[in-house]
Amino acid sequence: MLKIRSLDAYYGEFQVLYDVELDVSPGEVVVVVGANGAGKTSLINALSGTIDREGEVWFDQRNISTVPAHEIAATGLVQVPEGRRLFPFLSVMENLELGAYPAHARASADDTKRRVFDLMPRLRERVDQLAGSLSGGEQQLCAIGRALMSQPRVLMLDEPTLGLAPIMVSMVFELIDEIRASGTTILLVEQNVNRSLELADRGYVLEGGRVVLEGTGAELLANDRLKAAYLGG
Ligand SMILES: Nc1ncnc2c1ncn2[C@@H]1O[C@H](COP(=O)(O)OP(=O)(O)OP(=O)(O)O)[C@@H](O)[C@H]1O
Ligand SMILES: [Mg+2]
Repeated sequence: MLKIRSLDAYYGEFQVLYDVELDVSPGEVVVVVGANGAGKTSLINALSGTIDREGEVWFDQRNISTVPAHEIAATGLVQVPEGRRLFPFLSVMENLELGAYPAHARASADDTKRRVFDLMPRLRERVDQLAGSLSGGEQQLCAIGRALMSQPRVLMLDEPTLGLAPIMVSMVFELIDEIRASGTTILLVEQNVNRSLELADRGYVLEGGRVVLEGTGAELLANDRLKAAYLGG
């Protein structure tokens, strides 16, 4: 579904990704783990077209590596950014409705809204509340809901559990599992190596902008190098 080949990315002169190769098949949860500064967010930004990139990004049969950022979401590749970026002075409902801007999503927005509320009953209870007054975990749910409103075929999540209380961390991981079960493919970036690899079908480890390890979730969890670097040995 997503096939990334020889992907380099840059902030101006500064190269941040080197020759990244990565595949996501339909229905998979694929996780990218790595330390702070490894290039995880840059990878998602390169796929979204918000930073300079070179190489091939195949989405279905189409090379989208030169599609401009404002047209990427309409292809079905949708990002939930790190730090959520909701509109704090708009209600939950208004934030969700803003997600339904691609033409194909607008037509069926009411159905999608129902699906979002079924997945996240907590949001349904808070539709009229200002997004800025939600708890951190609820804001994350709202950001995921907003992305779902655009009817992604691949949903890219950047550290959705960062800074959340343990109970909300569990809730977000369960939600990711349910979104996958409902037919949306997921590319997940996480520092929570254990939980995300338990959930993932396959994973990649980024170090210094390069893929240094890949495998199934179980293989990576059992990998000595990964254990030493991220799981305390
Ligand atoms: N706007 C920018 N301009 C220049 N360099 C940047 C910019 N954003 C990130 N970088 C650099 O690119 C490298 C990768 O950053 P990136 O944000 O992709 O890492 P990350 O894996 O997402 O880290 P974290 O876990 O802290 O979110 C870092 O060295 C960072 O300093
Ligand atoms: Mg990041």
